Formats: sequence, structure tokens, C-alpha cells
Amino acid sequence: MNFLVLGSGGREHAISWKLSQSKIVNKLFVAPGNPGTASIAENINIGVEEFEKLASFCLERSVDIVVVGPEVPLVKGVKDFFKAKESTKHICIVGPDKVGAQLEGSKDFSKNFMFKYGIPTAASRTFLSSELEDGLKYLETHSLPIVLKADGLAAGKGVIIAEDLKTAKETLIDMLAHSKFGEASSKVVIEQFLKGIEMSSFVLCDGESYTILPEAKDYKRIGEQDTGLNTGGMGAISPVPFADQAFLDKVEQKVVIPTIEGLKKEGIEYTGFLFIGLMNYNGEPYVIEYNARMGDPETEVVFPRITSDVGELFKAVADKQLKNFKIEVDPRTASTIVLVSGGYPEDYEKGFEISGIDAAENVHVFHSGTGLKEGKLINTGGRVITVTGFGKDIRDAIAKSNKAAETITWNKRYYRRDIGLDLLKYEK
Ligand code: AMP
Ligand code: GLY
Repeated sequence: MNFLVLGSGGREHAISWKLSQSKIVNKLFVAPGNPGTASIAENINIGVEEFEKLASFCLERSVDIVVVGPEVPLVKGVKDFFKAKESTKHICIVGPDKVGAQLEGSKDFSKNFMFKYGIPTAASRTFLSSELEDGLKYLETHSLPIVLKADGLAAGKGVIIAEDLKTAKETLIDMLAHSKFGEASSKVVIEQFLKGIEMSSFVLCDGESYTILPEAKDYKRIGEQDTGLNTGGMGAISPVPFADQAFLDKVEQKVVIPTIEGLKKEGIEYTGFLFIGLMNYNGEPYVIEYNARMGDPETEVVFPRITSDVGELFKAVADKQLKNFKIEVDPRTASTIVLVSGGYPEDYEKGFEISGIDAAENVHVFHSGTGLKEGKLINTGGRVITVTGFGKDIRDAIAKSNKAAETITWNKRYYRRDIGLDLLKYEK
């Protein structure tokens, strides 16, 4: 079978790398890909939002399955586009349609969905621009801290946790009256703050059934000990030691099953990844958010742990046979560290030569923001390289990631040296 992966980050490199080992994959394309994916697949110079070009390419090269990496093409309707055309409707898109992607694309939609189907989540209310005064009054009656979320996609920046009433009110005014996040903040969800420890659950859906993938913990802040600005993610660990079988069973019974059933009742044929951001709050799972895709860098620990043939796994999605697919997972711990450009998530310089990749041992190296200039590998983005190590426990895995992170370098590269350390106390 022929596969096309959409995207250009570490997530797509990790998915393609697994696909490149599949027995059923004939041709593997990545659009647009990066220098890392170029070594295992054929990169195609088409952007993830160029639906017409993508459809023509899939027909020309007989692509059977398209695996969508990022959320934007999903929210913009890549699946709807393929399904609407007689010539492309047979192609399986691993990713939900526009309505299903609203679980990520609209916080208001996802909160209403959770309330309707009894899925545990923080109490919340939504306010429109025309309801600013009501929103400000509501803030006065609410306990602190309080969480304000722009309704739409805001590149991971649309959530503000306000510790005091003044900040909360200023944030609400900025979002509703001054369009702080553009159209995305024309609606704001005001939510109860939940204190707990976070983890992410990943589910692959075929419209009828589902398979639960390994869980992971992500590290969002730029600074060690979870300080400083939020980023796309600075590292990840899988499995998560505090998520024991009893907790994972609760996640399946209280969150995954009601979500799948709810989607069916809404008439949404959800295929693709469902990423559930969870808070472990007093031993109970609460949904913080849904995403309609895999996480990055979580994919760089989740996919390396999957030992089943990933081509077969996606074929089971296309055939609606996930209920008969027994996924096999490496029991060892995987850790990944993200190497970023100095200054990220704010301004940073690009174009520095990256060295040391060939010398990095005992890890899988995945490319994110890399490019080629005059034959040399350079940094072209904020998050540049991820290094995934395996070990018998977190310490063992992280030692490998750390060693490789030290070896791979360029001017001003930065990484966190404390990934996974907070989890050591939960390991048996
Ligand atoms: P989101 O984009 O909804 O995942 O929110 C970004 C981050 O804000 C989450 O990963 C959490 O760390 C934090 N967060 C969001 N909602 C809450 C909440 N209700 N209580 C505590 N922290 C939250
Ligand atoms: N690492 C978090 C995300 O992909 O949204």
C-alpha cells in the first residue's frame, strides 16, 4: 500500500520512521517533510493546506492512506475535501472531519460535548464578546486561580491561568474586547482551576471502534522545574508511572468509552487520533482538553514504543477493523528531549549549522525545525531535534537522551536537563 504523511515535524518523522519499517508499505511519501523524513521516505513539496494539490498527488501516485499530523488541515476540512470528490473518496484519511476536529478547534464545542455525555471535566461557562459585562461579574463570584481559554485555535497560547481577579478581568477584556487572539478569542471559556498532575492519553479511532495507544507525559514549560513560558513541548516520557492500571481503566471507562459513544450519538464518524489531555485530580481523571491529532513530542515516545506493524495499524483504521487489532507495545520506558533554538518560544536565530547527529548513540534522532543550506544541516525552527532513548526505567532512558542531547549542538541550542525527574518518585 502507498502512504502519505502530512506535516513536517518530529511527530511526522516518528510516524514515518515506524511506517518505513512496515511490511505492507510500498511507497511512503511525506508532505512537505523535513531533512529527517527525506532519509526514510520521499518528501513532496506540497503544503498541508494545499488540498487540491494533495488530492491530485494522491491520485497520480495511487496513495491509499493519508496520515494527518497537525490540526490545522483537519480543522480546515482536509477529510471533507477528499470525501466530497468522487475520485478521492476511497482514500482513507487518518484524521477526523471538520466537525470531529471541533473537539480541538473549539473549546466551547468540546466543553458542551463533555457536559452532554457526562465526561469528567472542570466546571465552566462560555462568554461571547457581547457578554463581556456578564463575564466580568462572573469572575467576581469565582474562586481563584481561574482559567480563561480562547475558544478557537491559538497555537497553544490561548490558555491563561489567572492567579488574581485583576489579571483575570484584564485577560477577559483583552480577549473579548481587544481580540487578543483574533477570531479565536471572540468566545472565551472561563473554567475552574484543577490542581493535579497531568498526562496525555492517545486513542486511535476507526469510526466504530478504537485502540488505546501508550500514554505519555509532556513538559510544556521552557524552564527547568516547569518555569517560564509555555512551549509546544520540551520533552516526554512514556509510560507514565503514576498512571497505574487502575487509573488507566478509569480513563477508559469514564472518558474514552463515553467520548466514542458520544461521537457516534452526534453522528460524527470519527477516524484518526484522539489526544486526551488529562488531569489526575485526587486519583480521578478529568479532561483538560481534546486534540484531534497526536502530540509533539509525545509521538516521539509513543510511536517508538509500538512494536506492532504501524502500516497494519492504519490499514485496520481504513478497514474499520481496530476492534480486532491487538496492539503490541514495548514495556520499556522511552524518554525524549527536545533541543530548541536559544530564545524559543520567543524570537530566536536560525541558520546555524547543527553538528553531532552522527555521533549520537543509543537514541532515535527525529528532526523538527531543520533544513539544508549548501549541503549543511541548519536550524530553521524553534523546536529543532528530538532524541528518544529507551531504558529499563526513567533514569536509564533519560541518561541516553541526555547524552545525545549534549552531543548534538549548534550555536545557542538549549534543552531541559530535568525531563522525567519529577516522575522518579512514582516509579515502583
Ligand atoms: P489546554 O490548551 O486546554 O491544554 O491548556 C493548556 C494548559 O493549561 C494545560 O496543559 C494545563 O497545564 C493548563 N490548564 C488548562 N485547563 C486547566 C484547568 N482547568 N486547571 C488547571 N490547569 C489547566
Ligand atoms: N505537546 C503538546 C501538543 O502536541 O499539543
